[in-house]
Amino acid sequence: RPGSQASTAFGLKFDGQPHRGTQRRGGDRPPASTAHFGKRKHGIAADKRPSSSSDDDKDRDFEPGPPGLLPDGLRGPDLPPMQPTYRFGDPSLPVSRYRRQILYLVENHATTIIVGETGSGKTTQVPQFLFEAGWAENGFCIAVTQPRRVAATTVAARVAEELGCDLGTTVGYAVRFDNALTAGRTRIKYLTDGVLLREMLDDPLLTSYSVIIVDEAHERSLATDMLLGLLKKIQRRRPDLRLIISSATLEATKLKDFFDAGTVTAAAAAAKRRAAAAAAAAGGVPPPPSDPDRTPAVVTVEGRTHPVQVHYLESPAPNYVHAAVEAAVNIHCEDLPGDILIFLTGQEEIQGAVGLLEEHARRLASSRGYSLKLLPLPLYAGLPGAQQQMVFRSTPRGYRKVVAATNIAETSLTIEGIVYVVDCCFVKQRCYNPLSGLESLLVAPVSKASAAQRAGRAGRMRAGHCFRLCTEEDFTKQLPEVAVPEMQRSNLVGMVLQLKALGIDNVMRFEWLAPPPAEALVRALEELHALKVLDEDARLTRDVGLALAALPLEPGLGAALLASRDLGCCEEMLTLVALLSLQQVWAPAQGAVRALEEAKAKFATAEGDGVTLLNVHRAWRGSGRSAAWAQRHFLNQHALLRADDARDQLLGLMRRHGLLPADKLPPSCERDMESVCRAVAAGRFMNAAVFERIEYNPLAPEGDKGTPVFRLVRYTAQRTHPIKLRIHNSSVLWRSMPSCVVYNTVQQADNGWYEMQGVTAVRPEWLIELAPHMFHKPNPT
Ligand code: CDP
Ligand code: MG
Repeated sequence: RPGSQASTAFGLKFDGQPHRGTQRRGGDRPPASTAHFGKRKHGIAADKRPSSSSDDDKDRDFEPGPPGLLPDGLRGPDLPPMQPTYRFGDPSLPVSRYRRQILYLVENHATTIIVGETGSGKTTQVPQFLFEAGWAENGFCIAVTQPRRVAATTVAARVAEELGCDLGTTVGYAVRFDNALTAGRTRIKYLTDGVLLREMLDDPLLTSYSVIIVDEAHERSLATDMLLGLLKKIQRRRPDLRLIISSATLEATKLKDFFDAGTVTAAAAAAKRRAAAAAAAAGGVPPPPSDPDRTPAVVTVEGRTHPVQVHYLESPAPNYVHAAVEAAVNIHCEDLPGDILIFLTGQEEIQGAVGLLEEHARRLASSRGYSLKLLPLPLYAGLPGAQQQMVFRSTPRGYRKVVAATNIAETSLTIEGIVYVVDCCFVKQRCYNPLSGLESLLVAPVSKASAAQRAGRAGRMRAGHCFRLCTEEDFTKQLPEVAVPEMQRSNLVGMVLQLKALGIDNVMRFEWLAPPPAEALVRALEELHALKVLDEDARLTRDVGLALAALPLEPGLGAALLASRDLGCCEEMLTLVALLSLQQVWAPAQGAVRALEEAKAKFATAEGDGVTLLNVHRAWRGSGRSAAWAQRHFLNQHALLRADDARDQLLGLMRRHGLLPADKLPPSCERDMESVCRAVAAGRFMNAAVFERIEYNPLAPEGDKGTPVFRLVRYTAQRTHPIKLRIHNSSVLWRSMPSCVVYNTVQQADNGWYEMQGVTAVRPEWLIELAPHMFHKPNPT
């Protein structure tokens, strides 16, 4: 009975302190600690600072863009009859007991909200119920949106397998730059919320769908929130459309109220139905199914979960990656059955942890006495598909799986067999300061709601344990109850552009689930104006605005691509933009930090990271796109291949929208990289920073050259208090002192520095040329 033994069985050691298992209910509390949790004390060694950009953020698919990338067809009645040979789902999952209830509610209500435990079958089973019940007949399709690409693709694969069809036939997926669909045949379509938003540009009422399932609504991603607002609008015009919103936590009330507001009351709807039924009974026309009750229905799926005992640290851990590895190894050494799931914040931490775990696995394998071998596995957004599958396969006999995962494993994906969860209690999230216009990624304490979800992952199979790598007091006092919706902590440029493209002119008055801060909206309008996307009347401009809306790119990158046409480097920018839009190109190998740096140095140029990436790509092409070559140079072959594919799609799109002539190759600047830097500047001038001074650290070892400090041009122009920027050590310009740069992303480090990633050296006069209204007199010295 693992539950009852635990407090004695887990005498885990953390930092030499015995770890007392504290029972969540009724257990004695560990002594109060003096640790300060809000400010991240878990310093990761300076050379291991997590780099941001790819990770989870790029797993999101929200970029404004066009219908063009979407598969043709999927609408119209000219479809072959359904094949009758499907196997349906997994009847043992909790949601299966609610099948009839769900189908009844969907039939009768415009909106149904399904609340349920993660792993109860909402994502994989509900679309199959609908399919089986005929919601995908007459050429209609069932859409299931996901905030993350990985979830969309893996879940689609799973459902195809359950139905016994090939992925991309009856069941398919669509994520940005990649899809598996058959026009006219795909009936259940998993897609990212960003892709569905883009489909709206082509088909504003989403007429090809009979049911749209908005999954993981509790995540409150920017695109999901925006989608919910738009779907509510669509519903008024399409009474036949059904919405299902699935949510793991207690967001249900908020969602219900949102969809309830402004609809016909339940009583009125019921009266209408009664009248219709009476008419039917009297031999009249039966009530059309397209006149559903507008009051949202809520169904709560009771899962089968087992109790999870939560343990806290007695004193804060100085480094949570090490603490997590240690916890996992200690659990393993208890020699009880069950797999382990570790929550960390990003790819680099995960790779670090997996490396350490592999060392332990080797060490333990050579010592006798343990019945199981450790099998460490990573799970994060940018992981190649084959490696992701390893996580979902059942653990081989004689092994114990230890999965180190990002937030993905919190609710989007369920891994079977987990009995122990180790939670670092942090998450990497976007934050935005509308005053400075600075959007950065920050490792912040996770919300209590998320921590509860994470702990829940341990109780799927049987009673489990969750080890939180913080003290109980810190947990109670420092963690927020729920996370702030992404809408309220993001740069809204992309969203406003997309709303404008959908014809929503007054974005201030849009029906928001949670309204974004007014300053952030104003800022977004200003930025779009500066990018010449909006004119004086805040309308999309013909040349830039409409063109940008047509590209599935973040507006800054889209603007750079458009600018490259006149600068004669479109060929290069297509490649660069594709490389920047997908996952990390560099694949850091464990223990090979130096080797990776050397590999990078081979391609590095003084122009910065963009041009360096182009050099890498050119050399890789020169090698015949060799996988072996990529591996030797610590490059992610999969990412490079996907970027090539994305590049071709972008080129096709630009041609289709008349942004490039169809009969000519896009102009190339050959080796003249200045025009590439100019194009980058044209999209990123908002992110311009000038070198200010060198900051010396009195404690630094001798020979330390100090840190070049930059300041944001835009921000200081406003004479507010300055933000200290420096170049992240993943950039090739790290330690150099270009007088003026533009960056792709900023990450906030532990010690208050804002670190720029994806840095390109530019000339101040370009900025004045590009945005004379913003940059009057940049003085780089
Ligand atoms: O959406 P929800 O969290 O309610 O559950 P789900 O994603 O539909 O998963 C239902 C079950 O299918 C879980 O027990 C998963 O472990 C399993 N599943 C799987 O084994 N492999 C996948 N790729 C997806 C789901
Ligand atoms: Mg799900």
